[in-house]
Amino acid sequence: MFSVLEAAKKEMDLPSEVKIFDTTLRDGEQTPGVSLTVGEKLSIARQLDKLGVDIIEAGFPISSKGEREAVKKIVKEGLSSTICGLSRVRKEDIDACLDCDVDLVHTFVPTSDIQIKHTVKKTKEEVVEMAVDAVTYIKEHGVPCLFSAMDASRTDIDYLIRINQEVEKAGADIINIPDTVGVMIPPAMKILTGKIVEKVKIPVDVHCHNDFGLAVPNTLAAVEAGAQEVQVAVNGLGERAGNANLEEVVMSLVSIYGVKTNIKTEYLVETSRLVERLTGIKIPPNYPIVGENAFAHESGIHTHGVLSDTRTFEPGFMTPEMVGHRRRIVSGKHAGVHGVSAMLKEMGFKPTKAQAAEITQRVKDLGDKGKTVTEADLHAIATAVLGQVAKEEKTLDLEDYVVVTGNRIHPTASVRLSFKDKTLSGADTGVGPVDAALNALRQALKDIEDVALREYRLEAITGGSDAIAEVIVKLEDSKGNIATGSAAREDIVTASVEAMVSGLNRIFLTRKE
Ligand code: KIV
Ligand code: ZN
Repeated sequence: MFSVLEAAKKEMDLPSEVKIFDTTLRDGEQTPGVSLTVGEKLSIARQLDKLGVDIIEAGFPISSKGEREAVKKIVKEGLSSTICGLSRVRKEDIDACLDCDVDLVHTFVPTSDIQIKHTVKKTKEEVVEMAVDAVTYIKEHGVPCLFSAMDASRTDIDYLIRINQEVEKAGADIINIPDTVGVMIPPAMKILTGKIVEKVKIPVDVHCHNDFGLAVPNTLAAVEAGAQEVQVAVNGLGERAGNANLEEVVMSLVSIYGVKTNIKTEYLVETSRLVERLTGIKIPPNYPIVGENAFAHESGIHTHGVLSDTRTFEPGFMTPEMVGHRRRIVSGKHAGVHGVSAMLKEMGFKPTKAQAAEITQRVKDLGDKGKTVTEADLHAIATAVLGQVAKEEKTLDLEDYVVVTGNRIHPTASVRLSFKDKTLSGADTGVGPVDAALNALRQALKDIEDVALREYRLEAITGGSDAIAEVIVKLEDSKGNIATGSAAREDIVTASVEAMVSGLNRIFLTRKE
């Protein structure tokens, strides 16, 4: 079979390995609304180290006392990752990094006309001098140095090459190409990276922002053009729309491109969840790789396929286990009997064909009402359906009920049942709608059976006012027979009446037996 993907990769001159530079604790912390305590930064740094990132950009030490303390503490942890501090091309910034004893100083200066004009306010020649002086100063202190020409993607290309060559001469160990405002598209990023790779001898790194949602494709395009290191952030955090997402870049490199990284991919979900919890920035369920739905299947067609071979509706070369996730078959309006039955089997239920069909129908009905059916909901529905007396053995059936309740109106209910070939009705009041409905049910049965309600348990399975309610009742008849009945519905009154009817059917069956 001709694989377009393989053919495309054959045309690329890919590196065998790419280094992962994580900026979650620096650019990531610049996400609007995010501010981490020293302890939180330390926890994330430990997790990044466990994940296997090559470099942790721990912070911008000059920016605050707390930041400097955090960077110092991360350095003192003695992690395996290289610890980097950010500095402008200023002596005091560099000194703040050196004071933290970082393994690497990342120094940057704006190089685009617009940024030079409005931020540094120097001539382009002076900017080159400042960059060279900064790199020289860092290297004089025996510390490796990464240089970034900020806004590189909007910088005049000849000037960009020149400043990078000058800092290389001054001793910079690695050059970074920042797409600071995320304006690149993959072919352009490829050209830009290719040009820099051609003009400098030291390794090239890239830092892409996600303003147009292209940070990951641009980062990958840079690797195609020879970048040996990529700057990424967990959950794609960072200024504005964020940076290239670590999980997406790593899994694309490893699983699609076949390029090695040092990331222990099985910790990706764990890392993403920790960062989500500590930063308070929620990841949407449909987020690739780490989102709740990344390996969830709902429709009948998909679940059927996945149950026979997961590769039918998953990439195959990326599995949930590889990233520390789990595969889920979820139920909703697109559910099919096949998928629902598989879920039930996993939960330990052994439904008959008819029961599986009824459970699936109930799931679909809930889905049609706009409800997502969780695993706990499905469990409750299955318990109720499987707990029912078989249709042919049922003595009693609920035909209909009505409850009226209000502020001043006393809750009043009437219930209609079919009992063998008769129709029974009853009406009564109660302290609330459930009580009224159950009293009405007892009224309808008064000439047949005086049943006592020994226990009544109500559980809301999921949150929200439309949660599925599971009602479990314990009944005792005049002869001392005890039976339990259960039902699960989004309406508490329906669930209560159905649970009673289910319990009564059990009592009648016991008597028959
Ligand atoms: O986006 C950017 O240009 C940066 C630099 C500091 C590298 O974050
Ligand atoms: Zn940035």
